[in-house]
Amino acid sequence: MINDINTVIDIKDASIFHRYNTILNNVNFKIKKGEFVYIIGKTGSGKSSLLKTIYGDLILKMGSINVVGHEMRNIKKSKLPFIRRKLGIIFQDFQLFQDRSIAENLIFVMKATGWKKNIINDNVLKLLSKVGLEDKANRYPHQLSGGEQQRAVIARALINNPIILIADEPTGNLDPKVSEKIFKLFLEINKKGTTILMATHNYELIKKFKNRTLNCIEGKVEEININNI
Ligand SMILES: Nc1ncnc2c1ncn2[C@@H]1O[C@H](COP(=O)(O)OP(=O)(O)OP(=O)(O)O)[C@@H](O)[C@H]1O
Ligand SMILES: [Mg+2]
Repeated sequence: MINDINTVIDIKDASIFHRYNTILNNVNFKIKKGEFVYIIGKTGSGKSSLLKTIYGDLILKMGSINVVGHEMRNIKKSKLPFIRRKLGIIFQDFQLFQDRSIAENLIFVMKATGWKKNIINDNVLKLLSKVGLEDKANRYPHQLSGGEQQRAVIARALINNPIILIADEPTGNLDPKVSEKIFKLFLEINKKGTTILMATHNYELIKKFKNRTLNCIEGKVEEININNI
C-alpha cells in the first residue's frame, strides 16, 4: 500500500517487457497528487509501454507499480475496471463511436459506469462545457474538427472525476495551433487539481509550458531538465 496519501503513482524497480524483450529496466519514480508530468523519448523508447503498464494493459512482472493505491504487479484482469474508473485515459487516435453524437458517446460511458439516469443529462453538458464543446453536443464525430474530437475524448476521460489523466500523445494527430489549445486545456484541468501524466513528442510545447519531465532513454527512465534539450 501507498503510505503517503499524496502519492498517485509509485514505481519501484519496475522492469517492462514485451514477451522476452526488456523495454525499460529498473524504473523508479513517484508522481504526487496535482503534478503535471511529461514523458518524452524517441520513438520506440518505451513511453507507451510504460503508460500501458501503469493502466494495466501490459502486465507488470518485475518490481512494483502502485497506481492510486493499487499494486499492478500481476494484477488480475477482473480488478482492472475498478482501478480504471479512477483513471482517465486518452490516446492520439480519438476512438469515439462514430455512429453516436458527442453527447451519446459520453452517455454511453456514464451508463456503463453506473450513473443514475436522472443526473446524466445535466452532467453531459457540464462536462462538455469544461472542454468548450457545450454547443456541439449533438454533433457526430465526423462533424467535428480533430481538435474538437480530442476535446470530446478529454471530456469523456473526465466523466468519473479521475485522480489522474494518462494521455499518450494526445496531440499526435493535430496541427501546431490546435495542439497548443489542447495543451492549454490540459493545463487548465491540472490547475483544477487533476494529476496529469502525458507522453508527448511535442518539444516546442513542453518548452513553452514547462513541467516536470521524464525521459525514456536506452532502457531507462530519467528525470530531465527541459532547458537542456
Ligand atoms: N505489442 C508489442 N509486442 C512486442 N513488442 C512491442 C509491442 N509494442 C511495442 N513493442 C516494442 O516495444 C518498444 C517500445 O515501444 P513503445 O510503443 O512503448 O514506444 P514509444 O516510446 O511509445 O514509441 P512512439 O513514440 O513511436 O509511440 C519498441 O521496440 C516496440 O517495437
Ligand atoms: Mg507511443
